Amino acid sequence: MLNMIRTFVICLLFLIFLGCEKEEKDVRLVQNFNYGWLFKKGENPKAFKRDLDTLDWRNLNLPHDWSIEGEFSEEYPTRPEEGALPAGIGWYRKTFKLPKQLEGKLVSIEFDGIFRNSEVWINEHYLGKRPNGYISFSYELTEHLKFGGAENVIAVKVDNSAQPNSRWYTGSGIYRNVRLVSTGKLKVDHWGTFVTTPEVNKDSATVNLQVKIKNSLNSEKIFRLVSSILDTNQVEVANVETLQTINPDTTITVGQDFKITNPELWDVENPYMYKVVTKVYDAKELTDNYETPLGIRYFEFDPETGFSLNGEPLKILGVNRHHDLGALGAAVNIHAIKRQLRLFKEMGVNAIRTSHNPPSPELLKLTDEMGFIVQDESFDMWKKKKNAEDYHKDWDEWHKQDLEDLIKRDRNHPSVMMWSIGNEIREQFDSTGIEITRELVDIVKSLDTTRPVTSALSENIPKKNYIYQSGALDVLGFNYKHEDYKNFPAWYPNEKIIITESASAIATRGQYDMPSDSVTYWPPAHNEDFDGNDDFTVSAYDNVAAYWGATHEAAWKEVKKFDFIAGVFVWAGMDYLGEPLPYPYPARSSYLGIIDLAGFPKDSYYMYKSEWSEEPVLHIFPHWNWAEGQVIDVWAYYNNADEVELFLNGESLGIKHKENDKIHLAWKVNYTPGTLKAVSRKNGKVVLEEEINTAGEASKIELNANKSKLKSDGEDLSFITVSILDKKGDLVPKANNLVEFEISGGGKIVGVDNGYQASLESFKANKRKAFNGKCLVIVQSNGEGKAINLKAISKGIEMKTIKIEIY
Ligand code: GAL
Repeated sequence: MLNMIRTFVICLLFLIFLGCEKEEKDVRLVQNFNYGWLFKKGENPKAFKRDLDTLDWRNLNLPHDWSIEGEFSEEYPTRPEEGALPAGIGWYRKTFKLPKQLEGKLVSIEFDGIFRNSEVWINEHYLGKRPNGYISFSYELTEHLKFGGAENVIAVKVDNSAQPNSRWYTGSGIYRNVRLVSTGKLKVDHWGTFVTTPEVNKDSATVNLQVKIKNSLNSEKIFRLVSSILDTNQVEVANVETLQTINPDTTITVGQDFKITNPELWDVENPYMYKVVTKVYDAKELTDNYETPLGIRYFEFDPETGFSLNGEPLKILGVNRHHDLGALGAAVNIHAIKRQLRLFKEMGVNAIRTSHNPPSPELLKLTDEMGFIVQDESFDMWKKKKNAEDYHKDWDEWHKQDLEDLIKRDRNHPSVMMWSIGNEIREQFDSTGIEITRELVDIVKSLDTTRPVTSALSENIPKKNYIYQSGALDVLGFNYKHEDYKNFPAWYPNEKIIITESASAIATRGQYDMPSDSVTYWPPAHNEDFDGNDDFTVSAYDNVAAYWGATHEAAWKEVKKFDFIAGVFVWAGMDYLGEPLPYPYPARSSYLGIIDLAGFPKDSYYMYKSEWSEEPVLHIFPHWNWAEGQVIDVWAYYNNADEVELFLNGESLGIKHKENDKIHLAWKVNYTPGTLKAVSRKNGKVVLEEEINTAGEASKIELNANKSKLKSDGEDLSFITVSILDKKGDLVPKANNLVEFEISGGGKIVGVDNGYQASLESFKANKRKAFNGKCLVIVQSNGEGKAINLKAISKGIEMKTIKIEIY
C-alpha cells in the first residue's frame, strides 16, 4: 500500500513538473526508480514476459541484496571466503506508467551496479547483459516505451550462480541505486562532461570543461552552451557561453575555459566544492541542464618527497575499504557509508582505496564532501583467474568498456587522485603483464591525463615484476613486505611509491591473549592450522598478523620512516564480510579491520588516531575483569603528552614515555580488582585521564544512537549501540546477553550485529546476543513520519527504551 501511495505521489510530482514546461528543472528529469519492484529468487526463463503471474513475488524497494537475508551455511558454493551466504539467480520486475507528456523525450534507465551478470528487458525487448557486478551502466529505453495509460514492464535477471567468483563477500542483486532519466533530444550525453583545472594557484585557477553534446534530432541544430561555475553558496563565479552547430544524429565535444580569481582550494581539511551548471539551448528553448561537481586542487607525487596537495606535503593516511556495509550487506545506503567515513575521519584517515573494484557513486560524493583522497580501483584480476568463475572469464569481452566507463563516471570527482588498474594481478609474474599493463594505462590516459595510474603489486623484486617492467605506471603501489621499503629507492630509482596495502593484522574486538609482546603469524608455517582460540576469536593486542603482513605498529612505523613513501592504505579500515582468515567456518567475516563489522573500534584504532590525528588521545586496555593474581599486560596509546602514569586503585605503577620508535606503552600488572587509571601529562600538566573499572554482574542496558533524529524519507538510518552495563554503569566486558528489540512508530529494524566474526545469528533479526559487552541495532525511518520508539529487552536485567525523532 505504501509503495502504491509512493508511486502515485512520484507520478503526481512528475506531472506537476511537466505542467510548467519552461521551468529549468524540467528539462532533465531524474526520477528515483528504487521503489515498487517485485522480486523472486530462482530461474524462470519467462520472467521477462509482460504477462506473468507474479502473485508469489515479493514486493521490495531497491537497493536490495538477497544474499545478506540468507542463513549462514558452510555448504553454499560461495564458501566462507565469500561470507558463507547464498548467491544463485534472482529476478526483479517493475511495472510503471509514464505520462503522455514524456512522449518525444529520451528516456533511459541508469543502474549504479548489479551483482552480477545482469540482463535487462523492457516490454520484452532485450536491452543487454552486463557481467561486471560493480560497474555502472545505462540503457536507452525510448523506442520501446508506452506513454499515457499503458503499463511498461522492466525485468532484470541477476545471475550470481557461477561460483566461486570472488575472494570476499559481493552480495547479490540490484544492490545499488536505479534512476529513470528523461531529457530532450539535444542534450549532454551520459557522463558527458569532464572538468579539469589545468592551472591552479592561490590567486587564480583556470578551469576547462569538455562537454559531449548529443543531437538525436534529424535536423542540424545551432545550439548555445552556457556553463556557470557556482561556489558553495550558489553564487556564480565564472560563466562561459558558446555557440555551435551540430549535425543531425551526432555527438560532438565542446570545450569551454573559465578563470576563477582567489579560488577556494579543495583539501582534506576543507573540502571546498564548486559545481558547474551546464545549459543547452536550442534557440531560446532550454533543452538540457546538467551538473558537474568541481573541486579546485593540485597535487603531485615525488620520488623523494612523496605526496603534496596544493603545494603542501601531505602523507596519505589511508585505509582499504570493501564495499559491504556489514549487517546491511552490499545494499548501498549513503547514511551507512557516511557513518563509516566519520569513524575514519575521527581516526585521522585522509584517504580511501576502493579495494578492489569501482565504488558506489555515493562513496565518491561523500569523499568529495568530507575530504578524503581516493584511489579508485578497477580490477582484482585480469585474464588470469583468482577463482574459477571470476571476472577473468569476462576479461576479453568487457575489460575495455568497464575500465572506460569507470573513468568516465568518476573523473569529475576532486577526491579521486589515482586510478588503480589492479590488485595483486597474476600477470605481474609473467611477461604477458607488460602488454596488458600498457593497454590498460593507455585506456585510462585516453580519458584522463590528470591523474597518475598505479597498480597494487605484491612482487617487490623489480626484475620479477612484469607490471613494473611495462614502464607504464606513474606510481608504483606495493602490498606488504615492509622490510623491503628501505631498498625501494635503490631498486626503483626515480619512481613514485605508495603503499597500497599494509598490516593485515588480525583481531577480534575485546579479546586479549597474553603474552602481548610476542607476535603470532597466520598460518604459522604457511600450511598448518592456526593454533587459535576455541571460540574463533583473535587477540586485539596488535600481536597477530597474516604472515605476508605485520602488526599495525610495525607496518606503520616503517611507512612513517621514509619521506619517499607517499602514504599508505592499511588493510583494512573495517572488518568486512568474507575472507575470515585465520579460521575455518563458522568464521565468516574478516578479522583484518581496525574497526569491527558492527562499527565498534578495536584498540588499534587508537594507535592510528594517536599517530594520525591532532586530537588528544589516551587509550588504555584491556578491560579490568581478570582472575586474582594474574599478571596482565596493560597497554596505552597516547599523543600530545610527554608521559603517562598508570595507577591501580590509587597506587602508581610508574611513569612511562615512548622510547625509541615504540608507539605503545606497556606495563605488567598483578591483577587485583578495582580501578585502573592512566594520566597523560605535558610539561607536568594533565592532558587526559582514562579509567577502567572492574565490572560487576550485568544489570542494565544502555542505548546510544549515532543519530537521535532521522529524516522521514524511508532511507535514513540510526545506528544504535547496545551496551551491557553493571549497576554502576561500567561495561561488562564479556557480557553475551541476548537482547531483543521491539520497535514502534515510524521505523523498522534493518540490521543487527555484534562484530563477532563467527556468529551465525541472522543479520536480519529483531534480536542479537551481545558480544564482549556490545551489540548493534540499525533502525531506518519508514516514511510514515512518526517518532520511533525502540525497546531493548534482555532477561534478568533492566531494559531500556530510546526515542528517535523524525523530521
Ligand atoms: C592481500 C589482498 C587483499 C586481502 C589481504 C588480506 O594480499 O590484496 O585483497 O586479501 O591480502 O590480508
